[in-house]
Amino acid sequence: MALQVTNSPFSEEQVELLNRLLPSITVTQQSWLSGYLTAVSSASNPVSESAGTTVAVLERPVIEVPAAVKEVTILFGSQTGNGQGIAEQAASTLKKQSFEVTLQSMSDFKPNNLKKIEHLLLVVSTHGEGDPPDTALPFYEFLHGRRAPKLDHLQYSVLALGDSSYEFFCKTGADFDQKLAELGAKPLAPRVDCDLDYDEPAAQWLAAVEVALQIHTGGQSAAAGLAAETVSSTQYSRTNPFRAEVLENINLNGRGSNKETRHLELSLEGSGLEYKPGDSVGIFPENNSELIDEIIKSGNWNADETVEINAQGERRALRVALQNHFEITVLTKPLLEKLSHYSESEQLKSLLHADQSGDLRNYAEGRDLLDALKDFGPISANEQQLVSILRKLPARLYSIASSFQANPDEVHLTIGTVRYEAHGRIRQGVCSVQCAENIEPGDKLPIYIHKNDNFRLPENPRTPIIMIGPGTGIAPFRSFIEERSETGAEGKSWLFFGDQHYVTDFYYQTEWQNYVKDGVLTRLDVAFSRDSAEKVYVQHRMKESSKELYQWIEEGASVYVCGDEQNMAKDVHHALLEILQQEGGKSPEEAEQFITRLIQEKRYQRDVY
Ligand SMILES: Cc1cc2nc3c(=O)[nH]c(=O)nc-3n(C[C@H](O)[C@H](O)[C@H](O)COP(=O)(O)OP(=O)(O)OC[C@H]3O[C@@H](n4cnc5c(N)ncnc54)[C@H](O)[C@@H]3O)c2cc1C
Ligand SMILES: NC(=O)c1ccc[n+]([C@@H]2O[C@H](COP(=O)([O-])OP(=O)(O)OC[C@H]3O[C@@H](n4cnc5c(N)ncnc54)[C@H](OP(=O)(O)O)[C@@H]3O)[C@@H](O)[C@H]2O)c1
Ligand SMILES: Cc1cc2nc3c(=O)[nH]c(=O)nc-3n(C[C@H](O)[C@H](O)[C@H](O)COP(=O)(O)O)c2cc1C
Repeated sequence: MALQVTNSPFSEEQVELLNRLLPSITVTQQSWLSGYLTAVSSASNPVSESAGTTVAVLERPVIEVPAAVKEVTILFGSQTGNGQGIAEQAASTLKKQSFEVTLQSMSDFKPNNLKKIEHLLLVVSTHGEGDPPDTALPFYEFLHGRRAPKLDHLQYSVLALGDSSYEFFCKTGADFDQKLAELGAKPLAPRVDCDLDYDEPAAQWLAAVEVALQIHTGGQSAAAGLAAETVSSTQYSRTNPFRAEVLENINLNGRGSNKETRHLELSLEGSGLEYKPGDSVGIFPENNSELIDEIIKSGNWNADETVEINAQGERRALRVALQNHFEITVLTKPLLEKLSHYSESEQLKSLLHADQSGDLRNYAEGRDLLDALKDFGPISANEQQLVSILRKLPARLYSIASSFQANPDEVHLTIGTVRYEAHGRIRQGVCSVQCAENIEPGDKLPIYIHKNDNFRLPENPRTPIIMIGPGTGIAPFRSFIEERSETGAEGKSWLFFGDQHYVTDFYYQTEWQNYVKDGVLTRLDVAFSRDSAEKVYVQHRMKESSKELYQWIEEGASVYVCGDEQNMAKDVHHALLEILQQEGGKSPEEAEQFITRLIQEKRYQRDVY
């Protein structure tokens, strides 16, 4: 009997996937799948728990395996490390299934090797305004260029990472998917587009890919390696955050500044957490309680009514759910679509109308859930339905501003407070304002370390470094220099810093001056934009010293940029291109190629947001 799913708890997309898959699987494959799913579900019920330690022993079905070679290549294009983490997890899972796995960053992958591989998994995020991550760019351009080969022999699947509040949601993943199909490659499993709460869809994608790979490689599950897998959650991570005590929380800006930038010191004592310069800390914030009150009031909801907060069926009071678990300050298209099921509003219907997507973006800009509830109310949703339209509250990342070598058991952050007015209301950044207004020494924050191998000091301590970090972009460079000071690295270092005013906004001023005095920092150039009639930015300082800057690059210096992505990083990039042309006599194309090479050699790295 051909297997066909007709009436099930799955979404339309999932049913389609299952109905493509199930009719083609053999009896042995059916029995493997059934055993596998039983094993997976037993893994979510931990068998032993002790003092914050959870260990689950996962029994998987033991099946005879033919000794076929099952290769798969996983390429990741990741800017801030999410995709890399998922790709590493996928590699580890597939290795345990006896796959021969090649795991590489797209920037390290030689496109000629495409001809040699049969199964390709791409995990790629979207950055900028629908742009590939820096490390994915050369591979992206190769596939979209004239030299891209026919790929009829290739089977592939794409996991796209993104954020549905952006106009070009998951565009890079979609582009790769389309291009691979155009080049003749066959989808192994359909592309999955992940929003910021990517854990579940990424796991579903991997499960679908696993099954498809097993089928396409004519194999079954491996025996020995899978008999017992130990899943340990003793380590703190994004899914098991550490509650770090706040040791210090000070405003780095002087009186009269337009800004409030907090220097936070957190204790890692007892966590076992370690980090490297270039890594970030993720903080799980809490939503503002006044905003929650207003939301609850607007729909006459009961703050104490319990609602389900996750797929595991955990329940919390509505107030707690809105405070700790769901995003209420960003309006995305999927949210407004779901809201429309509970609203009679004609305005909402017309906003959602396909050809008016520009209007929808304009509406969402600077507005939050409370605005939508008021503008499109009355809303007929009950408490559970209300939370079911919301995304999970995502952690905020902050570039680490300290060296672990110099401060074991501590991590320091530099957090710019986000406050602005929009549509007649003062808006507050969820995490930055919580840190500025509600967090004192002694309080605890749920955090994790977010590894970022795309922003690393050079391996050779003698390699010169050029650091460009205006505003809060200074953070990782405090970590870099503290580390180089601690380890006695001999390489030259040059820091470009800028902010509005010398007197009020020169973050960590005395530290930099001491580093210069001690020779740890070779050169410091500052650009205070509002101390003169004309704006002065870091790129102006770079151009003023273009000869030396070019010479440092020629000597092998690595270039780092951190801070604002929208304007600063783009302008600094253009300034670099201009310097390469002016001082290196390169054509515009040669300068672009030079930068591409720098990216590939990991000598041009950006941590921008
Ligand atoms: C890898 C990485 C490293 C980072 N490192 C740092 C760091 O070291 N220091 C730091 O301060 N931040 C850093 N950030 C940014 C940080 O993660 C948060 O995005 C930032 O603190 C804002 O979070 P929030 O919760 O306070 O604000 P949110 O509640 O998330 O609000 C911010 C959002 O408000 C909107 N917004 C802001 N201003 C306006 C305006 N004028 N008009 C309309 N809308 C506006 C924008 O959509 C913006 O995304 C980093 C981000 C990444 C991805
Ligand atoms: N995506 C996010 O989630 C998110 C969240 C928070 C912050 N951010 C961004 O992160 C940035 C960090 O804020 P911050 O307070 O640390 O610093 P900032 O706003 O970037 O300001 C630092 C300095 O850079 C200058 N500057 C402005 N435009 C520039 C340009 N095109 N090129 C070079 N320098 C420029 C500023 O000058 P002037 O001010 O005088 O113009 C100021 O002197 C903000 O700009 C914000 O856009 C993003
Ligand atoms: C500065 C910045 C720009 C972004 N631009 C987009 C975008 O245009 N489209 C999108 O879908 N997601 C966008 N995102 C969201 C990221 O794709 C998302 O956070 C993803 O999980 C990052 O994965 P990575 O860490 O592997 O790079 C952006 C994120 C940042 C920080």
